[in-house]
Amino acid sequence: MKITWFGHSAFALEAFNTKILIDPFFTGNPLCGDIKNYLNPDLILVTHDHGDHIGDTVEILKNGKSQVLAIADICYHLTATGVNSNQIMFGGNGMNIGGTVRFGDFSITMTNAIHSSIHGTPAGFIIKDPSGFTVYHAGDTALFSDMALLAERFNIDVALLPIGGHFTMDALDAAKACYYLEAKKVIPMHYKTFPVLCQNTDEFKTFIAEFSKTELIDLNPNESIELG
Ligand code: NI
Ligand code: MN
Repeated sequence: MKITWFGHSAFALEAFNTKILIDPFFTGNPLCGDIKNYLNPDLILVTHDHGDHIGDTVEILKNGKSQVLAIADICYHLTATGVNSNQIMFGGNGMNIGGTVRFGDFSITMTNAIHSSIHGTPAGFIIKDPSGFTVYHAGDTALFSDMALLAERFNIDVALLPIGGHFTMDALDAAKACYYLEAKKVIPMHYKTFPVLCQNTDEFKTFIAEFSKTELIDLNPNESIELG
């Protein structure tokens, strides 16, 4: 799987001829670079509808043939604002926390997240590709001990975790999250975008070595890595 980080919580996952964007915050994201290859993904996953996560979702949907998957309440809101319901998965109903759905040969589970949102409640996603390679995108969240339950249910190859603090977990709590999740690798996100967030991965580096066996993948914005 090719994983690309656009800064903040925006990622592309590409595997088995399928392109998935998560939280495509491109416009207004000071770290985001060239996105032209990512403007017509097969699927957009939205963890919650704060602007720095739902981002360019509506524009991308309107300009292409992408599908979107989010919590039901965001899906209803998208329908109400004029998004073609054919582009909203499961007849415009999306899904909800605890559910697992199929997208082609991918399986996608919606997880809890401790945060706020405008419509519905915030969420995370566990995405398993047809080979079984498993990515957890935590969305915006505080640390919660049920991450240990996710470790029991899923074999997480890569966790995408916020480390920026203020609105989410900070570096210490994200390192504890790695411990609970038993993730093999972690890619930090939701930092450096805005002055109020932490500006680098220095502390996170120290804490993950101290609290977990997880390997840090310290991507630069707009950098890709092949894993799995
Ligand atoms: Ni948020
Ligand atoms: Mn956010």
